[in-house]
Amino acid sequence: MIHLVARSLADTHNIASAIASIVRPRDLILLVGEMGAGKTAFTVGFARALGVSEDDHVSSPTFTLVHTYDSGRVPVLHADLYRLTSTGEVEDLGIREQLDMGAVGLVEWGDVAQEVLGDALIVSLEADADDTECRTITVSVEGHGWDTRWEPLKASLQKWSAA
Ligand SMILES: Nc1ncnc2c1ncn2[C@@H]1O[C@H](COP(=O)(O)OP(=O)(O)OP(=O)(O)O)[C@@H](O)[C@H]1O
Ligand SMILES: [Mg+2]
Repeated sequence: MIHLVARSLADTHNIASAIASIVRPRDLILLVGEMGAGKTAFTVGFARALGVSEDDHVSSPTFTLVHTYDSGRVPVLHADLYRLTSTGEVEDLGIREQLDMGAVGLVEWGDVAQEVLGDALIVSLEADADDTECRTITVSVEGHGWDTRWEPLKASLQKWSAA
């Protein structure tokens, strides 16, 4: 596990950008955290780093559940599963299929879907009780897809290390 501290929104964007720089098509990132923790903010930083244009306004997909942005160097799928109640509904969204076609996926409230969606990088964001700008960010992995990238990832996030 990698423990990080983001002291500002810019830090969260930069952490997302560092992670985006080592992603590959078919990667899945599950975003975990309470309302307002910064899951969408992370996605905005991530999508920008992959070259998704500012015109492709990245926002919360709560009403449509899934958005795909095609203007960057790799298609970015952004989903929000907050409203879903069963894993069958997750399967119906076709997220796995879009990843298999080469997209990178970011899924808010995605921990419930891990079983259905498979290997993932799990990014948990937690607000700070005393500092409204501060977030504790924990990065962990499910499966082996990140094995060879784990050390480079750690190194690129060193700057925000909580240790
Ligand atoms: N360090 C930080 N990291 C992320 N967001 C921050 C930070 N500091 C302040 N914020 C603010 O916190 C809010 C995070 O909201 P955001 O929509 O990203 O949360 P969310 O986790 O997606 O919530 P929801 O579950 O409702 O979708 C934004 O208004 C953002 O500007
Ligand atoms: Mg959100």
